[in-house]
Amino acid sequence: MKTIGVFTSGGDAPGMNACLRAVVRTAIRHGMEVWGICRGYQGMIEGEFRRLGIRDVSNIIQLGGTILHSARSEAFRTPEGRRQAYENLKARGIEGLVAIGGDGTFTGARVFLNEYPALRIVGAPGTIDNDLYGTDYTIGYDTAINTAMNAIDNIKDTANSHERVFFVEVMGRDAGFIALATGIATGAEAVLVPESRTNIAALVHMLRQNFERRKRANIIVVAEGDDEGGAVEVARKVQARLPHIEARVTILGHVQRGGRPTCMERVRASRIGMECVRALKEGKNGVMVGIIHRDIAYTPFEKAIKHHQELNPTLLQIVQLLS
Ligand code: F6P
Repeated sequence: MKTIGVFTSGGDAPGMNACLRAVVRTAIRHGMEVWGICRGYQGMIEGEFRRLGIRDVSNIIQLGGTILHSARSEAFRTPEGRRQAYENLKARGIEGLVAIGGDGTFTGARVFLNEYPALRIVGAPGTIDNDLYGTDYTIGYDTAINTAMNAIDNIKDTANSHERVFFVEVMGRDAGFIALATGIATGAEAVLVPESRTNIAALVHMLRQNFERRKRANIIVVAEGDDEGGAVEVARKVQARLPHIEARVTILGHVQRGGRPTCMERVRASRIGMECVRALKEGKNGVMVGIIHRDIAYTPFEKAIKHHQELNPTLLQIVQLLS
């Protein structure tokens, strides 16, 4: 394989730049030509390609976001859009792609490969949500949980000072990984995740007990995809039953998506980026490159997106036991 393309797609995540840097430098050192495709599938359709050399990815390992930019493309959902994207790749002699993104990115890659079997695509798991099957960590997750943890630590200070109940909403789409990790790390009183049913009555009971034993500062971490709603909704339901508590809601939002990637993030992203190029060289196709128990693992796109990674039930117990 002589020429490859690389792009970032879907929600940006800290560590994507480190991954991109590794892809570009590994490929060039293997004698390949590399094209960066801006704005994901949308840029592939609109012809936003730029040749990338070793120096083009200097000084980006520490940056959050993605220097290639990202987009969620409606046009790529259509056969016409995909045809145009394929023509643009062909015109530049691009035979293989490294797709850095999450389940939407890999869903698009699968359809693309079915229609254009001459292409080869491997994926790097890039999303703060950590919801892809076939890897212990996705690129962006470690930074996001550290950012959220620091924010919740700050909230804890004020919760203690004013004896308030804080409902803190974290991202994760329909997965509870960010909520669970940050809840444990901050000693939250409860963590509400989409993977297990939320019981408002039990939550109210726990808060009432906490108040009776004069524990007046309480942090409830709510995953945005929780079945009882986000933090605003959960706070409303709890406050209706406990009108005397002083409740506050904080939605951490996109704060969790930005920022300098942590050390582990940069290390893992670099490794995955390098392994993506190796995988393409070895003829692998239609797979996501992940890390399981410290080893590189290849998971077909279909499996990576269909099977949600599961929450560790022991971690859920930790919250109850230690709060
Ligand atoms: O998938 C990453 C993520 O940040 C989710 O946690 C969140 O639900 C979603 O993207 C937000 O998407 P957008 O940036 O398009 O609002």
